[in-house]
Amino acid sequence: MPKVVVLPGDGVGPEVISCALEVLAQVAPDLEYAEYAFGLAGTAKYGKPLGDEVLEAALGSDAVLMGSVGGLPGSTDNIARELRPESGLLKLRKSLGVYANLRPSKVYSGLEHLSPLKPEVAGGVDILILRELLGGAYFGEPRGLEEGGGFNTIRYTTSEVERAARWAFQAARGRQNRVCSVDKANVLEVSEFWRRIVVHVHQTEFPDVELTHEYVDSCAMILVKNPKRYDVILTENLFGDILSDLASVLPGSLGLLPSASLGDKIGLYEPIHGSAPDIAGQGIANPAATMLSAAMMLEYSFKRPEVARVIENAVQKALFSHPTRDLGGSSGSSEFTKAVLALL
Ligand code: NAD
Ligand code: IPM
Ligand code: MN
Repeated sequence: MPKVVVLPGDGVGPEVISCALEVLAQVAPDLEYAEYAFGLAGTAKYGKPLGDEVLEAALGSDAVLMGSVGGLPGSTDNIARELRPESGLLKLRKSLGVYANLRPSKVYSGLEHLSPLKPEVAGGVDILILRELLGGAYFGEPRGLEEGGGFNTIRYTTSEVERAARWAFQAARGRQNRVCSVDKANVLEVSEFWRRIVVHVHQTEFPDVELTHEYVDSCAMILVKNPKRYDVILTENLFGDILSDLASVLPGSLGLLPSASLGDKIGLYEPIHGSAPDIAGQGIANPAATMLSAAMMLEYSFKRPEVARVIENAVQKALFSHPTRDLGGSSGSSEFTKAVLALL
């Protein structure tokens, strides 16, 4: 039986994970789960956000399904950085070797009204952000705080850019065949390098795919003004983090965007949102992003795309009939989940 390690995490994490598990129980009853404390909950249990036995279980699993980690922004500033919940997540991603982070942002037909954009701008949006996940400022050395200053390093190597670019071009072939590589090559050497490698991978391996380049500031503007311009957006770690939260506004809420983090073997699946401490414990978090992350797990780790489509369709319909509060509706997490279960 396929083994899934489940990491509910903190804040709304356990709430949205339990909703997603109800959906999985119905469409993939053969999966086996092992649940572990992670993030602040991990620190309470193991003395660190990613306990040794948790990492070992994740490395021995077929897939990892995660909620979210972290406390109120600023609340962990006094903890040593390596013991903060976010560091546990970065260590997990690094240990699993998941360098390709897929963050789809889609405005489903019939759900244009949930977008804050005009229906003619939002309608038909179908973007895949391919965020490089193991490089850049998140992991670059040297880094640190010093008297009167702080510093980080953005560094990318040939192989790091190549493998992310290959993922983006490959994904584009199954979509509209267009990749837009987003960088800041007008200012940063590391972006100039990124662009050079992307062009090389394109010319030598994917000349059939359309490739364009854009600066990240302009991309942020066009994402709001004319989002249909994009098919696959390929970008580095930090830009991808920021642009994906921005792209979540196109369908209407951060609570809608799922993600799959893939590498050579075990996939990690998580909504792109955080622990939402401002609404945790109230039963109002939107579980759609986590359900869609579970769908991505079925598609990418377990090769069951038809079951993934069943979840996606039910979520789409439930968003129409039972919109949650972040979308201007009134359904709570459990009401929304019941609607999804009935539609499966
Ligand atoms: P956040 O994503 O948690 O929340 C931002 C806003 O979006 C909040 O108003 C929140 O209520 C809302 N929101 C988020 N998810 C929602 C959902 N499913 N349904 C309805 N509304 C939702 O970002 P933040 O407030 O900047 O960060 C909170 C904590 O989460 C921090 O500790 C941060 O480091 C952490 N974080 C973790 C992850 C992760 O685990 N992958 C991602 C982002 C932030
Ligand atoms: C995300 C989050 C994480 C990131 C944090 C919590 C480490 O914002 O998954 O988007 O920056 O990658
Ligand atoms: Mn983020």
